[in-house]
Amino acid sequence: MNMIDLIKSRRNIKKFKPDAIDHSLIQQWLEAAAMAPNHRMTEPWEIYVIGPETRKKINHKTNFGNASFVMAVLSRHGATKVETDENAAATACFIQNFNLAAWSEGVGTFWSSIGISGNNRELLQVPENYDLLGVIAVGYPEEVPEAKPRTPMEEKIKYLP
Ligand SMILES: Cc1cc2nc3c(=O)[nH]c(=O)nc-3n(C[C@H](O)[C@H](O)[C@H](O)COP(=O)(O)O)c2cc1C
Repeated sequence: MNMIDLIKSRRNIKKFKPDAIDHSLIQQWLEAAAMAPNHRMTEPWEIYVIGPETRKKINHKTNFGNASFVMAVLSRHGATKVETDENAAATACFIQNFNLAAWSEGVGTFWSSIGISGNNRELLQVPENYDLLGVIAVGYPEEVPEAKPRTPMEEKIKYLP
């Protein structure tokens, strides 16, 4: 599949098969994710792999679609608001790299902001100086939803003189 088709076919997957994912594949996708652009090479991301005990405590209504692997992705604060925003942007690139790398091998991801509330931050042991950008569930899709249409780009582009 070429890059455009890969990007356009990715979906937020909410129902997974129970099949486990080979750890070496996860490792490979994380390494690809870490090639994300990041200003001043801050590499602000940290990955917390969510084990069964913690997962139960999160009490997610669909149990992350029964995904076989779930991780929280954190982004370190910078010394200024600008640096913190830049770090979050870099970590979002990290997540999208991961999601596309997984998708290229037929594995789906569910990006959930479940962990952002105070209670879940505590459960996930997120340090004060980190943002929690999302909880990412990963697995072989049971269902792939239809694409959600996007606003035509002409409505999003402004041409400056
Ligand atoms: C920062 C962020 C947080 C998200 N949080 C949730 C969430 O909590 N629950 C959810 O169902 N989807 C969540 N999503 C996924 C979006 O709902 C999804 O990407 C959007 O509906 C478009 O669908 P698609 O990714 O399949 O094209 C999140 C996406 C992002 C980027």
